[in-house]
Amino acid sequence: MKSCVLLTGGAGYIGSHTAVELVNRGYEVVLLDNFSNSSPQVLERLRQITGRDLPCVSADIRDGVTLDEVFDHHVIDVVIHFAALKAVGESCAQPLLYFDNNIAGTISLLQAMRRHQVGRLVFSSSATVYGEPDRCPIPEAAPLRVSNPYGRSKLVMEQLIADVAAADSKFHAATLRYFNPVGAHESGLIGEDPNGVPNNLMPFVCQVAVGRRPFLSVFGNDYPTRDGTGVRDYLHVVDLARAHVRAVEYLQREERNLLVNLGTGRGVSVLELVRAFEQVSGRSVPLEFMPRRAGDVAECFADPSLAEELLNWRAEYDVLRMCVDAWHWQQQNPHGYLA
Ligand code: NAD
Ligand code: WQD
Repeated sequence: MKSCVLLTGGAGYIGSHTAVELVNRGYEVVLLDNFSNSSPQVLERLRQITGRDLPCVSADIRDGVTLDEVFDHHVIDVVIHFAALKAVGESCAQPLLYFDNNIAGTISLLQAMRRHQVGRLVFSSSATVYGEPDRCPIPEAAPLRVSNPYGRSKLVMEQLIADVAAADSKFHAATLRYFNPVGAHESGLIGEDPNGVPNNLMPFVCQVAVGRRPFLSVFGNDYPTRDGTGVRDYLHVVDLARAHVRAVEYLQREERNLLVNLGTGRGVSVLELVRAFEQVSGRSVPLEFMPRRAGDVAECFADPSLAEELLNWRAEYDVLRMCVDAWHWQQQNPHGYLA
């Protein structure tokens, strides 16, 4: 029997897809989530996909007593730490909320792992730690420049995890810097379900295409890019989920720390993504050009070669497939999980 992986934030967008890929690879999983940004309905969807009832603890990672119970009741070999708040704008308005949830939450988790001698952690970091890059593609050694409280929380979490690993030869962490995860499971049963008005491009495009919003605001068409709109490294969430399985395997095999970018290495503009979406959906996505959004960079895409070298992982799905699966999810769930 394969070992058991605890997924904090396991009911969320990336966590739920990772749970599926871990189960596919024969792992036992335990999810832990406070449902602050997810729906318990995810569990029924996961049952439909995997054919199993996946155990899920409804709790906050800052609740050390419940973490102790989880580690007492399950023999956890690896923790994947997804649980965090992730909205950049909200983090600017409520920085302490973000520092408490993300940083204090991570400290609480690390303390519980230490109490129970669990020494393998996969951590969800973000390309946001690179801020405005000097050049693209961005290697892991690029300068780190955070520009908002969310990004600062990610950078601090990276650093405190590195300090814990440096102090304890039995603790190893895989820090994964995701670029822009999009798309959904091919079943259309799980996907991204943002609260309120989506901040991110793909869910907004989906909601325009399905008729929930009249048009897409394109934030800036005067960037020094090929069509003037922002360029990002969109990555299929199932590719991303599979990278987590590789990271778990790496920690179990190598007993070493790891820090890698996870992206495709290809930059795609806002207009290119919208055109791809229109092509696969057959719907038109009306758009209006607006001023640049504060804090946005012109271009951000990964050098993912280290992940290929160390994890033997590379993204398989292209932008058309990302759009196909995002659209399938949106059509099956026009109002998200609550429909
Ligand atoms: P998500 O909001 O869908 O998932 C996060 C989950 O964590 C949610 O289910 C939420 O309810 C839960 N959670 C939050 N705080 C918690 C707490 N204190 N205790 C218990 N559960 C808590 O987000 P996601 O897109 O799946 O992101 C997962 C991770 O990846 C996050 O750490 C995020 O910062 C990081 N990340 C996401 C992106 C992205 O664009 N989606 C990019 C880079 C990094
Ligand atoms: C992509 C492009 C926008 C919405 C964010 C976080 C980052 C990470 C991933 C967690 C940009 C443009 C968007 C819209 C638009 N999250 N856009 N109209 O900003 O690269 O990254 O999510 O770690 O930290 O900052 O992603 O999807 O918001 O934007 O024109 O309605 O789409 O200007 O060029 P971003 P995004």
